[in-house]
Amino acid sequence: MSEPTPVPTPDAWRRVDAYLSETLVGHDDALEQAVADQNAADLPAIEVAPLNGKLLNLLARISGARRILEIGTLGAYSTIWLARALPDGGDVVTIEAEPRNAEVARANLERAGVGDRVEVRVGRAADVLPELDGGAPFDLVFIDADKESNTVYLDWAARLGRPGTVVVVDNVVRSGGVADPATESAQVIGVQRGLELLARDPRFDATALQTLDRKGWDGVAIALVV
Ligand code: DHB
Ligand code: MG
Repeated sequence: MSEPTPVPTPDAWRRVDAYLSETLVGHDDALEQAVADQNAADLPAIEVAPLNGKLLNLLARISGARRILEIGTLGAYSTIWLARALPDGGDVVTIEAEPRNAEVARANLERAGVGDRVEVRVGRAADVLPELDGGAPFDLVFIDADKESNTVYLDWAARLGRPGTVVVVDNVVRSGGVADPATESAQVIGVQRGLELLARDPRFDATALQTLDRKGWDGVAIALVV
């Protein structure tokens, strides 16, 4: 008798996520305290999973990023991962629409010891992004905010980047909703428009990976500004 074919039930993929996280990420007080304080402040528990945080950190290091832009700070969990990837003199600019989130984020960044290299800008990203125009180009851009605006954020990522800039978009699968052409969800439609932009806009070359982790069934798009 052969073994039954394993199926990726939520229980099974959470077990694998926990195994991979334990094996490859391990534990870190500042990151875990950031999530605890975010939860205590009643922010939504939608920070990236640990393996995805480490993916951001590795992409930043692989690409040699010195200047990073994040759209959507929440409690700064992903921001800490990104800031830790920076060489001396590098910086992260992270944009957060909710002042309460930004307050939690700043405290978490200070405790993690990276407050001096992260600037938290409070405001709607659509308002803040034009203010960043004219500065040094960003080497990596992480888009993780209101999905309805993904095309706007991708356009800014190309404008504020340079050839070689890495762009990562979170939440591009949305429990499979992205493959539903009849979806009525404004968020899923925003994700679809963003992926279509990545496909047709000659400024980008992109792929996407599905993820099954403690956050559920989702995915990340990874693009290069060409
Ligand atoms: C949602 C947003 C996110 O950025 C995320 O990682 C998960 C969920 C949301 O708005 O539901
Ligand atoms: Mg997200």
